[in-house]
Order: sequence, then C-alpha cells, then structure tokens
Amino acid sequence: MPPISRGEVSYITGAASGIGRALATLLIAQGGRVIIADLNSEAGAEFASELNKKAGSIIAIAIKTDTTVWEDQVAAFQQAKNTFERIDYVFANAGIAEHPWLPPFDPETATSRPLVKPDLATVDINLTGQLYTAALALQTFERQEIGPSGFRGKLILTASVFAYYPSRAMPLYAASKAGIINFMRSAAQYYASKNITVNAVAPNLVDTPIAPDVLFVPFRERKLLSDMQLVLDQFQKFLGGSTINGQALSISQDNVWVHPADTHMFEENDPACELISVELFKLFGDNTL
Ligand SMILES: NC(=O)c1ccc[n+]([C@@H]2O[C@H](COP(=O)([O-])OP(=O)(O)OC[C@H]3O[C@@H](n4cnc5c(N)ncnc54)[C@H](O)[C@@H]3O)[C@@H](O)[C@H]2O)c1
Repeated sequence: MPPISRGEVSYITGAASGIGRALATLLIAQGGRVIIADLNSEAGAEFASELNKKAGSIIAIAIKTDTTVWEDQVAAFQQAKNTFERIDYVFANAGIAEHPWLPPFDPETATSRPLVKPDLATVDINLTGQLYTAALALQTFERQEIGPSGFRGKLILTASVFAYYPSRAMPLYAASKAGIINFMRSAAQYYASKNITVNAVAPNLVDTPIAPDVLFVPFRERKLLSDMQLVLDQFQKFLGGSTINGQALSISQDNVWVHPADTHMFEENDPACELISVELFKLFGDNTL
C-alpha cells in the first residue's frame, strides 16, 4: 500500500540527480506529482519530460532554482502552487559535498600567503538553502487546509550521519548538517500541534554524482556504501498518514537507527529550556505554548 494519496504533490530540491531524483521516481510510481527544483535546469527538464511522457499527462514540472537565492525559491513555490494548487510534501534535499573552506595547513608557506576569506559555499547551500526551502514549506502549509493524508503538510530535510560524526575532512559539511538536525528537532516541536511534521533522513555515503566517481571506488570495493533503496525506505516512513515527528532516521550500509537519541539531555536542564521557550514566545507575541 503506497503511503501517499493519489495525486499528492511533492516539491523536491535537487531532484535532477541522486537521492532527489530517486525520491521523485518513487513518488511518481506511487501516483504522486512532483516539482523538480534544481539548479541544473537541463537535467531537471529532461527528467520531467521523461516522467510526463511515460504518464501521458503533466505529473512533473521542472523549475530552475538556486536554493541559496530566496527570490528563486519564492518563484518556484509560486509556480508549483499555480500548477498543482497545493504542496503536500517538501523535501529540502539539494546539497553539495565539502568545498574546502581554507587552504591546507602548512606553516612553512602560511606566512607568505595573505589571510584567506573562507569559502562558505557548503554552508550556503546545505544550511541556508535548505532553511529557505523550509521557511517556504512551513508558510505554504500554514496557508493551506488539511490534505488527503490528514496533514497541512510535511517537511523532510536531507541531512547526513556527519551531522553527528565529526569529520576532519568536512568541517563545514558537518556543521551544516548538524544545523539541519537541530533545526528539524526544534521546528518539529513548534509545529507538532499544527498538523505539520518535520523530520530528516541522514545517510552515510550513497552512490550518487555528489562527488567524482573515483571517490566511490574504494567504498564499492569494501562494500561501505549505503543502499539507495534503504534511504528511500526511510523517507517513506514520514509520508502519508505517518505521525512521526522530529526524527532523524540514519543509514549506514544496511543499518538504520534513530539519531541522536535523547541521552545527552538530562532532567536538570529541562526546566530552563522549557522556560526559555515560554518566555521567548511572550516576547515574540506568539500564542504557541
Ligand atoms: N550521496 C551521499 O553520499 C549523501 C549522503 C548523505 C547525505 N547526502 C545529501 O543528500 C542530498 C542530495 O545529494 P545527492 O547525493 O543526491 O547529490 P547529487 O549531486 O546527486 O544531487 C544534488 C542535486 O542538487 C542540485 N543542487 C546543488 N546545488 C543546488 C542549489 N544551490 N540549488 C538547487 N539545486 C542544487 C544539483 O544540481 C543536483 O542535481 C544532499 O543534501 C547531500 O548532502 C548525500
């Protein structure tokens, strides 16, 4: 039994390739409709046309979007709403692998180099871009009635196991994915009573075009890749009538776990955290409890 209702609409960033593309294919197979919001407009348009041709009707649209540009995403959401009337699921998925933020550590040559402004592209796309998507998703859901699956809408973000595991080669990737996870957990609390769920999927390395193929070779040899189908299975758990909220489902090879467990929270910390929310909402003029 597919978890989504026939005709439900999914807005997926980065859906022209890799995980987003596999997700779009799955949702279409279940009778859904998709918006492919991707910077790569050629691959997005080709993919949409392939899906529409196979279906014999318009079930997919491709919109050229740079997720780091707010106006691009506003326009994309608008076009999606104009075409399909409502958006049931938003997948904040577009992301890139680490762009080195600083030159390699080398005290020998450092003094002869000017101080370098860091390249923050990884954070711009993986954190800011996904937060723009989230902001539009949540406001879109706020403006629409409860849909066929019983929710105003569901937001799912693509994080990574490097949200919790430090990586000396990927400090900004790790920082951006960690940001996504605790944003997800916080937003899930806020929207819990509002018929909106917020969750994340956090895979280890999956074979996609995110990095040059040569990087994947030793992982294939040592069978250290995570299976795409298992990744899709985790997205699926959040869809349709599922009431799961505030969870990060993590995948590494054949393993799936919920992470982070709340064991790092201790009771003495609870009253102060709770009171911060109550007092801040008073300041914000927000009636949320
Ligand atoms: N592949 C992995 O090993 C892996 C593991 C964990 C998490 N992830 C995450 O999964 C998500 C998807 O990655 P993937 O592996 O499918 O990569 P991918 O490179 O196959 O696909 C990413 C897509 O995002 C698009 N994109 C990149 N920057 C964009 C921007 N600014 N605006 C709009 N579109 C943009 C690209 O054009 C591409 O089509 C990312 O958030 C990534 O961090 C990937």
